[in-house]
Amino acid sequence: MIKEERLESKLKSGKRLSKLDAPKEINSNEYVLKDNDFIVSKTDPKGYITYCNRIFVEAAGWSRFELIGANHNIIRHPHMPKIAFKILWDLIQSKKEFFGFVKNLRKNGGFYWVFAYITPDLDLNGNIVGYTSFRKKPNTEGVRQIEPIYKELLEAEKRGGIAESYELLKKLLSANDENVIEKYHKLVFDLQKGI
Ligand SMILES: Cc1cc2nc3c(=O)[nH]c(=O)nc-3n(C[C@H](O)[C@H](O)[C@H](O)COP(=O)(O)O)c2cc1C
Repeated sequence: MIKEERLESKLKSGKRLSKLDAPKEINSNEYVLKDNDFIVSKTDPKGYITYCNRIFVEAAGWSRFELIGANHNIIRHPHMPKIAFKILWDLIQSKKEFFGFVKNLRKNGGFYWVFAYITPDLDLNGNIVGYTSFRKKPNTEGVRQIEPIYKELLEAEKRGGIAESYELLKKLLSANDENVIEKYHKLVFDLQKGI
C-alpha cells in the first residue's frame, strides 16, 4: 500500500494517539531548534493533528504517520501547567490568537522549547474549521525566566487545582480577570524580545 493509502486506512480505523501513548519516563535531553526552524501544525476543531511539517516530525520524534490523526496533546510535557493550555484554548475558541513559551515532550522522553503562535482557521461564515500553529526557537533567556514561573504554577495546581494556579498567575502579573491575558501576552513578548 502506498503511504497516503496507509494513512487513510489508519485514520478510518479511528486509532488516535494521545498523551496516554506518550512516554511515561521523561529525561533531560534537550533538542534545540535551529535559528531558522519553523514548526508548523494544523488541527481540526478538537485538536487532532491534520497537518505537520518536516521540522515538527524531527523535533517531536514521532513519524508523520503517527502524528497525523493524533491528539495534539501527544507532545504535552508534564512540566507544563494546565493553566497555560486553558489560556490557549479559551483564546483560540473565542477566535483570538495565542502566543506562549511551551515545553514539549519528544517521543524519546526528551524535550524541546518553542515560542508558539496559534490561530483559529475560519470559514467565510466565521465558523472555526480548525487551528494552525507556528513555532520558532524561543529566546534562551526568556525560557530561563519562564521556567520557574511554570514550576510555581504547577505547584499551585498540585495544591489547589487550576483555580489556585490562575490566582497565582494573576498575582505574579499584578493582574485582574479583565487584564490578565493582556499582561500575560506582554510578558511573553518581553521575554521573547529579551527585555
Ligand atoms: C494548533 C494547536 C497546536 C497546539 N500545540 C501544542 C503544543 O505544541 N504542545 C502542547 O503541549 N499542546 C499543544 N496544543 C494544545 C493541546 O491541544 C492540549 O490542549 C495540551 O497539550 C494539553 O493537553 P491536555 O489538556 O489533554 O492535558 C495545541 C493545540 C492546537 C489547537
